[in-house]
Amino acid sequence: MNVLIVGSGGREHALAYKAALSALVTHVFVAPGNAGTTKSAAGSKNAGMTNIDIAASDIESLIAFAKKNEIGLTIVGPEQPLVAGIVDAFSAAGLACFGPTQSASTLEGSKTFAKEFLERHQIPTARYQSFTQTADALEYLATQKFPVVIKADGLAAGKGVVIAHNFEVGQHAIEEMLSGNRFGEAGHRVVIEEFMEGEEASFICIVSGTNVLPMASSQDHKAAFDHDQGPNTGGMGAYSPAPIVDEGMTKSILDKVIYPTVNGLQLEGTPYIGFLYAGLMIGSDNIPRVVEFNCRFGDPEAQPVLSRLKSDLVSHCLAAVEGRLSGEVAQWDERCCLGVVMAADGYPESYTKGARISGLDLMVDNTEVFHAGTQVNDSGEIATSGGRVLCVTGFGDTVREAQKKAYQRVSHIDWQGAWYRSDIGYRAVQREQE
Ligand code: AMP
Ligand code: GLY
Repeated sequence: MNVLIVGSGGREHALAYKAALSALVTHVFVAPGNAGTTKSAAGSKNAGMTNIDIAASDIESLIAFAKKNEIGLTIVGPEQPLVAGIVDAFSAAGLACFGPTQSASTLEGSKTFAKEFLERHQIPTARYQSFTQTADALEYLATQKFPVVIKADGLAAGKGVVIAHNFEVGQHAIEEMLSGNRFGEAGHRVVIEEFMEGEEASFICIVSGTNVLPMASSQDHKAAFDHDQGPNTGGMGAYSPAPIVDEGMTKSILDKVIYPTVNGLQLEGTPYIGFLYAGLMIGSDNIPRVVEFNCRFGDPEAQPVLSRLKSDLVSHCLAAVEGRLSGEVAQWDERCCLGVVMAADGYPESYTKGARISGLDLMVDNTEVFHAGTQVNDSGEIATSGGRVLCVTGFGDTVREAQKKAYQRVSHIDWQGAWYRSDIGYRAVQREQE
């Protein structure tokens, strides 16, 4: 069977890499992909992989391509095409496409919708109010205990969240979003939310209606700089498993969050198929509270989590689309995997592009390089083309060992302006030392 992966980031490289290993798969196409999903990628195992020059947003061309190339399954990486209805369009064309429908994707596409849904189904989350008028939002803000969290309602690539430690910072964020058009349409409604203390974890599942196949747990580092300082990003590194998500916590997450969510969606007539990502805050009371839902795999969580998946990703996704997920069992590498994101100068604000990347072919055992913002330039060299450029993963028996491996590989790779956090996994390493 031929498989089509839609998207161009590190998550899509990881999805393509796993799909190519599937016994069910003849060839993997990636639209549009990156330099890591081309055959020429240094050290690549991409014999069965081809990039297609179609944007992830060009649903019509993707459908035409899928029909012409006998694509048996399309797996959608990023949220934008899902929220735009790619799954509905593929289904209408008689094509198997793994991901939630447009209406089910609203769980990520609108934070207000997600908060109301959580409230309706008594799923633990932070208290909130949502606003479209600056004056009303500021009036509410003035009554709040700080810090509070201000969020753009719509999609903002992980950047539409401000943690305000005082009124002035909150006021500035609200004015920028509601009056200043900071995130365009996505920011014309804001959610003001209680700040939750605790430790974050990412819990991602393959869902098919009310059947759930949990992926291994993971933790992401969203802040740009070491010690979780600086602005929010899409994620600067991740590792799996997350030590805080032990067996008891896994049960609690499934019982209190995941099943109420998929059952609620089914009940409301928007059954969910696809990756469902619950971003959770686990406080000292050990209750997992929902920070956000995503209608896709996490990035960079996908890189370490899927690296640990030993069973067949395509088999799992196909089973979900065909309504037989309950027969699937996921198997995991027992070891830890940790991924370090290498970013371009200026990220998460505007960044430089086109720098030639060196050292990609310097191998270190038990490591892998997943590409994100990369492309092959006119001279055939691999150059930067995005803010998050690479995610370098390492395996180890402990998080500390996985961390060492990943940073060892990172130390060989460079380009003008390259930077990365030097402390990915620090919480888990601390726990190991205790
Ligand atoms: P979101 O895009 O909603 O996931 O928010 C991005 C990041 O902001 C989260 O991963 C958290 O680190 C932080 N955050 C969001 N909402 C809250 C909250 N209510 N309390 C504490 N931190 C939050
Ligand atoms: N790494 C966070 C996300 O994918 O939303």
